[in-house]
Amino acid sequence: MQYARKYAQQAPKELEHLRYLLWAMRPDVKVVMEIGIHEGGTLAAWADLYPKAKLVGIDIDTKKIRSELHNMLEGRELFLYEGDSTCGDFQADIHRAFEQIPVDFLFIDGGHDGRCVRADFDGYSKLVRPGGIIAFHDICSVPNHNPPVHEIREFWDELKRTHPCRIYGEIFDPLKPKTHSGGIGYLWV
Ligand SMILES: C[S@@+](CC[C@H](N)C(=O)[O-])C[C@H]1O[C@@H](n2cnc3c(N)ncnc32)[C@H](O)[C@@H]1O
Repeated sequence: MQYARKYAQQAPKELEHLRYLLWAMRPDVKVVMEIGIHEGGTLAAWADLYPKAKLVGIDIDTKKIRSELHNMLEGRELFLYEGDSTCGDFQADIHRAFEQIPVDFLFIDGGHDGRCVRADFDGYSKLVRPGGIIAFHDICSVPNHNPPVHEIREFWDELKRTHPCRIYGEIFDPLKPKTHSGGIGYLWV
């Protein structure tokens, strides 16, 4: 977890809370897909939680992952896809690759505006198996933020009303005001 603690772009308590929930809900995750890997901080957190899982990372620039993480993940099944996650052709390639490989846990943390988060959810949620988990970062409203993170909150609020799931939940660091960025929403589908 050292790499994740150093490089994940999440509030540490929120990430730890999500890892705890994931382990409680689905200790048997075999395939993790993350959109928006940046330096690989959260990817390292999932790798640590699920030592045998296949790891799939998508980013417009996958070269930001440090060699330290590549070394740590040597021998692991790691698939990196570079491109715009919201682009239809790119999504079609990922669908072809994962047609027979259902995803157990999808973490959406790519483009931080309403258009991107909607396109990422619509594009990749279909790959998640029934009983799988989908989580989003940055469901808190941040006034006057650029990119407009409040649009993620709006999309998340819409999903809670409309998307069928067993349960949904929200994780916030109780010591942070809700106007601060962060917050993780999850759906157990
Ligand atoms: C907040 S960072 C991800 C942080 C990472 N999940 C962590 O906590 O360690 C967002 C990432 O999304 C990527 N991104 C933004 N828009 C994207 C898009 N349209 N397609 C693919 N990746 C995108 C950025 O390059 C960036 O690396």
